[in-house]
Amino acid sequence: MNLLIMGLPGAGKGTQAAKIVEEFGVAHISTGDMFREAMSNQTDMGKLAKSYIDKGELVPDEVTNGIVKERLAKQDIAEKGFLLDGYPRTIEQAYALDETLKELNLTLDGVVNIDVDPSSLVERLSGRIINRKTGETFHKVFNPPVGDYDENDFYQREDDKPETVKRRLDVNIAQGQPILDHYSEKGLVNNVNGNQEIDIVFEDVKKVISGLK
Ligand code: AP5
Ligand code: MG
Repeated sequence: MNLLIMGLPGAGKGTQAAKIVEEFGVAHISTGDMFREAMSNQTDMGKLAKSYIDKGELVPDEVTNGIVKERLAKQDIAEKGFLLDGYPRTIEQAYALDETLKELNLTLDGVVNIDVDPSSLVERLSGRIINRKTGETFHKVFNPPVGDYDENDFYQREDDKPETVKRRLDVNIAQGQPILDHYSEKGLVNNVNGNQEIDIVFEDVKKVISGLK
């Protein structure tokens, strides 16, 4: 199964992706996670990415297209399939992905678009906490870690500051529609209501994915 998950920043792409990976065994390819890993390793690519991410801007297409192509070419993808999260984010990236999939002889089975009311997203992002050891994502109010937890075991993303979130939302709203139109023309888009509780969203996501092919 080869899938894309789309949605505005904070829509719940990463949250649903973790559940999809567990249920369907596909490889999770999150460009945001790849950039954050490169940033923490302070590679040249990480330093470049940081200069865009800290401002809420998109990393240049040629960099992003390159890392996705490299990842999709690895052997495990042909075997277990993939779930792309946060890519493509511009129409040029969508065209580049079409080319890459053709070259690698892969086909896209479906796009899960998590539809959310943008007014809820600042609250979701400002309350997001991530476990330092496991990388698991939680929310202080909507999805708190079980039991008593030590706040020091969790961190907040640098780009979840309100001023950066505003820019991320503006950028993503502007870029998103042409990408959805592109995949709608191919009959691949499935909308899921993301304004529901996490587990209910996942029930809907599962129905969509199980109905593909
Ligand atoms: P990226 O990491 O992809 O960030 P994003 O798209 O802004 O999305 P987020 O990861 O913030 O949100 P999410 O939808 O995964 O939500 P989550 O599940 O965590 O990209 C970061 C940056 O990297 C970009 O700004 C850009 O600079 C760069 N970049 C990445 N890809 C790029 C590309 N292709 N091209 C160029 N640049 C690129 O949930 C959020 C919170 O809400 C959590 O706390 C969660 O617990 C909670 N939550 C989730 N679902 C629900 C629910 N249903 N109800 C209540 N709370 C919920
Ligand atoms: Mg994410």
